[in-house]
Amino acid sequence: MAEYTHTLLITGGAGFIGSHVVRRMVNLYPQYRIVNLDALTYAGNLENLRDLESAPNYSFVKADITDAAAMEELFAREKFDGVIHLAAESHVDRSISNPIEFVMTNVVGTVVLLNAFKAHGNTKTGRFYHVSTDEVYGTLGDEGKFTESTPYDPNSPYSASKASSDHFVRAYHETFKVPVVISNCSNNYGSHQFPEKLIPLMIRNIQQCKPLPVYGKGDNIRDWLWVEDHASAIDAIYHGGRLGETYNIGGNNEWKNLDLVHKLCEIMDRKLGRKPGESAEQITFVTDRAGHDFRYAIDASKLENELGWSPSVAFDQGFEKTIDWYLENQVWLENVTSGNYQEYYAAMYANR
Ligand code: NAD
Ligand code: TYD
Repeated sequence: MAEYTHTLLITGGAGFIGSHVVRRMVNLYPQYRIVNLDALTYAGNLENLRDLESAPNYSFVKADITDAAAMEELFAREKFDGVIHLAAESHVDRSISNPIEFVMTNVVGTVVLLNAFKAHGNTKTGRFYHVSTDEVYGTLGDEGKFTESTPYDPNSPYSASKASSDHFVRAYHETFKVPVVISNCSNNYGSHQFPEKLIPLMIRNIQQCKPLPVYGKGDNIRDWLWVEDHASAIDAIYHGGRLGETYNIGGNNEWKNLDLVHKLCEIMDRKLGRKPGESAEQITFVTDRAGHDFRYAIDASKLENELGWSPSVAFDQGFEKTIDWYLENQVWLENVTSGNYQEYYAAMYANR
């Protein structure tokens, strides 16, 4: 049997970002034993990790992070050196429809994991790394960027739940001396993202000649980061981030939603052999999201200065690759939209 130097738990590893983090860690750290824990909600899909199934240093556990007894038992058995915690309810629109689910998974689930790590984890030389979002800082106007000292000001039930979980992580560091680190990242794009989020939803709708639902006037601005660059930042922070600290992660790549959708339409016209402007005819302005944050932008200089991280992929290149992935993975797209997706879509968009 191989001798492993480190036992790492990754939660939410069957989701969008989690699958990229798991793949990176399993491939780059064969000396680590990596356990991926995921409840396989609508957003979690083991198809995302088929290529890793035979990796000797990888295993999967289906479990719910809110199940305190199961977490206690797992942590007591495995004695994890570290945790990278990504499991969450992650979609703002769903949080508006059902806030309680976000409190349960994002707040209660995080505290359950903190308790289990505090009781059984390697709190001497290991760490609990909490992956969070820039949405905890609220919204920006036309100017400025979020820094690590921007006051928390969450506006959606999703961001309120993530802000609360961040505070618990910080509190466990102060009160119980649990070694923690937190990062807050901007919007990710890339392969394997569930098509409730802007980019994969629009790709699918363009292909299927359905309306492209742009909220409000499409003036809201997001900063987009290639998901594998987020995974590389998580790797750098897991290994080198200072305990008790927060690191902002961003792509320095702001896009107005409408401009992004137009860019996507142009590329899709080319790839689908449509005439220029054809896909953009599908753009439909729909009722705005309640409490819609206007702008997110990140100052990632702390991460760049301390750990030498910067995004590796230019947006044009990453965006093109992302679109190609969805076009080449129609079976994946069909599979993830075959369950209750139609019901979700009808409830979210029918009367907008
Ligand atoms: P996702 O919705 O694609 O995946 C979430 C994963 O968590 C799924 O595999 C799901 O099955 C699992 N999960 C949900 N509830 C669970 C529970 N109770 N127990 C165990 N597993 C559970 O989300 P994502 O976009 O990959 O985001 C991952 C993390 O990164 C989240 O914490 C999110 O807040 C954060 N984040 C996301 C973005 C983004 O742009 N998507 C940006 C910054 C931070
Ligand atoms: P989303 O991908 O849901 O991420 P977040 O809300 O966490 O930033 O949405 C990105 C932006 O796109 C956000 O400003 C809302 C907008 N949006 C639309 O205009 N139409 C849509 O159908 C969706 C899902 C999002």
